[in-house]
Amino acid sequence: MNVNGVSVFGPAGAGRVNQREDIRYQFRPIQKPSNAVQVGVIGYGYWGPNIVRNLQGLDNCELVAVCDKNPAALRRASKTYPGVHLTTDFSEVLTSPDIDAVAIVTPVWTHYELAKAALANGKHVFVEKPFTSTSQQAEELIELASRKNLKIMVDHTFLFSGAVRKIRELVDGGALGELYYFDSTRVNLGLFQHDVSVIWDLAPHDLSIMNHIIAERPEAVVATGGSHLNGHADMGFITVYFPRNIIAHINVNWLSPVKVRTTLIGGKDKMLVWNDLEADEKIKVYDKGVEIASGQGLYDLLVSYRTGDVWAPKVEQTEALKVELDYFLDCVMNDRTPSNDGEAGLRVVQLLEAAEESLKGKGRHVVLS
Ligand SMILES: NC(=O)c1ccc[n+]([C@@H]2O[C@H](COP(=O)([O-])OP(=O)(O)OC[C@H]3O[C@@H](n4cnc5c(N)ncnc54)[C@H](O)[C@@H]3O)[C@@H](O)[C@H]2O)c1
Repeated sequence: MNVNGVSVFGPAGAGRVNQREDIRYQFRPIQKPSNAVQVGVIGYGYWGPNIVRNLQGLDNCELVAVCDKNPAALRRASKTYPGVHLTTDFSEVLTSPDIDAVAIVTPVWTHYELAKAALANGKHVFVEKPFTSTSQQAEELIELASRKNLKIMVDHTFLFSGAVRKIRELVDGGALGELYYFDSTRVNLGLFQHDVSVIWDLAPHDLSIMNHIIAERPEAVVATGGSHLNGHADMGFITVYFPRNIIAHINVNWLSPVKVRTTLIGGKDKMLVWNDLEADEKIKVYDKGVEIASGQGLYDLLVSYRTGDVWAPKVEQTEALKVELDYFLDCVMNDRTPSNDGEAGLRVVQLLEAAEESLKGKGRHVVLS
């Protein structure tokens, strides 16, 4: 299919719908509120309904259309959003004059083509993580958006969670002292993806959080992992090296019997534990540390351990996706560049590519350019 000179679609059969089942509702003329962004959403599978629900609840948004090539998904949407235009044809969303911005909530391999067509048609783009399948695609989209003065925001949802906002505040304010390490575990049984490895599926969360917290550019990546079921890595262990001796480690796994969402961040002065599964007290700051007391010779070193108070700072409970989408609309309306823009999405894709390259080389040290 060709939308405004941009070829949209990859693998044969993708995007086609059985005409018998095709659901088309007429576009209704829209009364544009002057202070609202008109948004169309493409993809109403697992994550799409969360995007649609939050957009629908925001005052500065007019949810115009929801598109999914699967008519069953649209039937679900029609029950909850009877007034919204529903279509199986993404080109309707990409070319509608009633739409200012498009949210792309489809599998990773479709992001580039859909985002490129949206930008070519003058739409701002909110696109799911990971931004694209390759850094080259990401660079191309960034260039296109810049040329057309359009916004790209990549959905790195966790950056808008109360916990990550609080951690960033603590780190920036020097509460932990000089940073030593970032160590994140994101494991559970499933959800297995058909098109990407666990690294491309889950690690974008940790890598985007890591990039957001550590005010340094990563230098190198080492990754190992295993593939046991469908040919894609289902467990991955990624190490990222930073300047100033900061090290990050990310453990992602679809084969864990238990769900763990824990991040440790260690600094010279204090250490922090973020357990995202805790209802309250998600973050605990430990006044713990280690000091070397004497420097005479190797065997004379005195290591002293410091143990002080534990503190649980207040964490904002607002839904991260709501905060993020509100910010996206604000960036579109007020011509601001989002912090999680295409460049931020590109940095994550570069790390994913490096991790994949290292994994293929059985833990080869991959230096980032
Ligand atoms: N930010 C987060 O926390 C988060 C969480 C889950 C998923 N995601 C991301 O969201 C994206 C979608 O993931 P998912 O789990 O919802 O996938 P999914 O497979 O459940 O849903 C994708 C939907 O897109 C539809 N679709 C695919 N191609 C289409 C096309 N050309 N036109 C119209 N509809 C099309 C499919 O029919 C399907 O309903 C992925 O990029 C994933 O990484 C993000």
